[in-house]
Amino acid sequence: MEQVVVVDHPLVQHKLSLCRRVETQTWQFRGLVEEITALMLYEAIRDIATVEADLVTPVGPGKGTQISAKEPVFVAVLRAGLGMVPGALRLFPYARAGHIGLYRDHDTHIPVQYYNNLPPDIEDVDCYLLEPMLATGGSAVHALTLLKEAGAKKIKIMSLIAAPEGIKAITDSHPDVTIYLASIDEKLNDKAYIVPGLGDAGDRLFGTA
Ligand code: URA
Repeated sequence: MEQVVVVDHPLVQHKLSLCRRVETQTWQFRGLVEEITALMLYEAIRDIATVEADLVTPVGPGKGTQISAKEPVFVAVLRAGLGMVPGALRLFPYARAGHIGLYRDHDTHIPVQYYNNLPPDIEDVDCYLLEPMLATGGSAVHALTLLKEAGAKKIKIMSLIAAPEGIKAITDSHPDVTIYLASIDEKLNDKAYIVPGLGDAGDRLFGTA
């Protein structure tokens, strides 16, 4: 499989366009991020392990398909990744979730870690890193390294929008990680924001600007 998958479904693209709009309100933005995450996850789990299962319908015995993979783990990169968690847990209510806290130093744009709380025993579990904006990719690269240090071997990353720089950072440092995106945008500006992007995802999710 390609390392980068752009989920180009019209519903995802429509909802992403609403997210981008400056006039979209916080409460709308939050709902849209939740929905986009669920729709993207639908694509990202396409290769999840399944088994055939015997079942009985009201009409008689039959065969069905059942997910056999262990419950996935969703890891949010704080703070904007929190906005993606409800959409992921809507599809997998029994999943566990981890949190990695990183902020970007204003001057250097280098990620600084302030929190790391991952579920135990994640060696043979599908792990999904939730990071809405893949800008320089610095935070995602760092978070992927922490996940691997915790034992994770099967990792995918889900982002709404990536800059080419962010994709390159991941493919260079973590060639084993598949990246699911709704869009690859044009570039970064001098403040390392994605252009055209959607602004600061954390601020838009939590109404802090
Ligand atoms: N983080 C954001 O929230 N937005 C960007 O454009 C880049 C990084």
